[in-house]
Amino acid sequence: MNKTYLIANWKMQLLNSEAKNLASEVVNTKKNENTEIVLCPSAISIAPLSEILKNSAVKLGAQNLWPEQKGSFTGEISPTQLKELNVEYVILGHSERRKNNAETDEQIHAKVKSALANNLTPIVCVGETFEERQEGQTDLVIINQVTKALQGIKLDEGQKIFIAYEPVWVIGSGQAVDPKEAQNIVRLIRKTMLDLLPQNMVENNLKVLYGGSVDADNILNFIKPNLIDGVLIGGASLSLEKFKPIINSLNNK
Ligand code: PGA
Repeated sequence: MNKTYLIANWKMQLLNSEAKNLASEVVNTKKNENTEIVLCPSAISIAPLSEILKNSAVKLGAQNLWPEQKGSFTGEISPTQLKELNVEYVILGHSERRKNNAETDEQIHAKVKSALANNLTPIVCVGETFEERQEGQTDLVIINQVTKALQGIKLDEGQKIFIAYEPVWVIGSGQAVDPKEAQNIVRLIRKTMLDLLPQNMVENNLKVLYGGSVDADNILNFIKPNLIDGVLIGGASLSLEKFKPIINSLNNK
């Protein structure tokens, strides 16, 4: 049975004390064994969450990394520092970092390579802006971002790579895209990946997610076995009140 992935992107929304409380509550929430929950807190909360999640089935993710192992990179965090704290996943190329930190496709590519070399699972975010969509550029933007981030990467046998389709204009808007539209873009992502990885790896090692205003009411419209493997959730992952019904909706599936 394929797993369904719930990636909680807490962005810069929670104090350390709040992140610790919420992580403990999530650990104590009953989940289906096929549901993989990944909590991605602010960097400052990675160490305490590492302790809280230690003996649980809930996984730990980061929101960024710097591609080098160590060195004079003030304010940055290396893949080895993340690994030491049992981080398994890392979100890369989120649209907020592309916009606010001027992150380029080349930098994202270097980060993906570094994550894989250090046995972290990258979750690469791609998505069009509203203007790009209006100009009919969506497909082109997606193909470009996927190709530039992932061209030339090599996966070992058990390694996975995640791509999250996140239309920039629906993030945090409260209004997700039409699920049919998300499915079409995810098909395009899978097709694009066939040019970059062997077919058996696209089938077995690639997971594709949808992200953008996912909540308990719409999540089941997005999960499609062998097409959309899970969701990246921002706002609706920030309290147990909102996150628990999402976890529960998969329990009943
Ligand atoms: P949202 O954020 O669920 O609040 O739209 C998603 C994301 O930015 O990853």
